[in-house]
Amino acid sequence: MAFERVCTLDDLWQGEMANYTVGETEILLVHTDKGQLVATQAMCPHQEVELVEGELSGCFLTCRAHLWRFNVVEGKGVNPTHPELALYPIKVENDVVYVDVEGVEPKYAHS
Ligand code: FES
Repeated sequence: MAFERVCTLDDLWQGEMANYTVGETEILLVHTDKGQLVATQAMCPHQEVELVEGELSGCFLTCRAHLWRFNVVEGKGVNPTHPELALYPIKVENDVVYVDVEGVEPKYAHS
């Protein structure tokens, strides 16, 4: 598999996030209020709660379950700092968003 079409920029405005399925992989697409586009794992690394149910503020996403906070642009935990998010390669051509999920596995940090 390579880059697959996910959506258009009109489908996901700045400050929004949404889940999409690429192949058989569920991803979370985030469009920050600064215009950065990020494709990351859909599930929280902690206890696999959907990250899309959390709160997005700038590039910071807070999981609703236990309030772990992530910098989605860097794919790193902010509080706590040890968890990481898998980031998928992403590109935009003619306002269409493409993501490549091949070879990237979700990350987990159960404590
Ligand atoms: S499941 Fe996300 S912080 Fe616990």
